[in-house]
Amino acid sequence: MYSDKVMDHFQNPRNVGEIENASGVGTVGNAKCGDIMRMYLDIDDNGVIQDCKFKTFGCGAAVATSSMATELVKGKTIQEALEVTNKAVMDALDGLPPVKVHCSLLAEEAIHAALWDYAEKHGIKIEGLEKPKSDISEEEEEEEY
Ligand code: FES
Repeated sequence: MYSDKVMDHFQNPRNVGEIENASGVGTVGNAKCGDIMRMYLDIDDNGVIQDCKFKTFGCGAAVATSSMATELVKGKTIQEALEVTNKAVMDALDGLPPVKVHCSLLAEEAIHAALWDYAEKHGIKIEGLEKPKSDISEEEEEEEY
């Protein structure tokens, strides 16, 4: 059901933890399953993501996608990090079962929320970044109509 990469990132998640005095912190939940994701970003003066860590109260797919997402955004600029969509993360993991796709949205939205927090703290606007949702299940419900 799960690819080897998903199992690897679930069993040995990368970048778990917190960053003290992070440049940006974002927390996103999914009210339907009750899972929560928090992302920490350390962004340098050139707008490059030096470090990224996450903490989750989430399912295995949420752990694996967040682990991969943190690996993908590290070393990237803010603009490049916006291209790390949940689809890009799923591709990097060789796919996820359809019922678990929403779990990968948790990672994407948490990164966006952390970038939003960074932009607010610095009084800047990040082009292409929309105000993140604090609850991704709203988005899923919209899709059902
Ligand atoms: Fe909630 Fe996966 S079941 S994030």
